[in-house]
Amino acid sequence: MEQYNCTKVHLPLIGESAPEFEADTTQGRIKFPDDYRGKWVILFSHPADFTPVCTTEFMTFASMEKEFEALNCKLIGLSIDSHYSHIAWLRTIKEKIEYKGMKNIEVNFPVIADVKMEVAHKFGMVQSAASDVSPVRAVFFIDPQAKVRAIIFYPASLGRNFQEIKRALIAMQTADAYKVATPADWQPGDDVIVPPPGSCGAAKERVEGAQREGIKCLDWFLCFKSLKLK
Ligand code: BEZ
Repeated sequence: MEQYNCTKVHLPLIGESAPEFEADTTQGRIKFPDDYRGKWVILFSHPADFTPVCTTEFMTFASMEKEFEALNCKLIGLSIDSHYSHIAWLRTIKEKIEYKGMKNIEVNFPVIADVKMEVAHKFGMVQSAASDVSPVRAVFFIDPQAKVRAIIFYPASLGRNFQEIKRALIAMQTADAYKVATPADWQPGDDVIVPPPGSCGAAKERVEGAQREGIKCLDWFLCFKSLKLK
């Protein structure tokens, strides 16, 4: 049987406080969560600088940074490359790479130079069965209270879908704001799910009063409503 050294793997789970850290980045030193109070944070790792999939990811994410800013969300990248490698790679991206109509792309969000893998290990980003020397593609969604709300892990060969990352962020913000849930393949503007009633009486009331409340029920436990202002 294969054995992996998992002694250092620590994975903060959904609902837990995200581990605190201080780190040097391409935008100076950052302190998490202190520098990010009241904001959503997407902390993501990439396996290495100057690699093809990571380059397409960085260009895509950087080109969407303002969209995340508008959602009160800060981006933080991480790899275990050095600060100078990060600077050289980001300069190359800006000066030389054109991809899917994106060019002259400046990466303005901080990228952590985690050469000692301190932050990567705190977030379980280095997964020995995949690699001991580079992080997987991790995405941690961290809310304004510094709680982990969602996690995505992809292998090195699989570039992430940044529209899905944005959709997931908006879905969680919507769920928080309106105390609702979002159905399969939900997109902003679609109907949301009203939490199921907690008692038989409430179930009866839900179904009988659905039309009056503007709720569409497929059954007592599966009811939708629109968030659009009428
Ligand atoms: C890439 O970004 O292309 C990549 C990085 C590490 C391993 C394989 C692919």
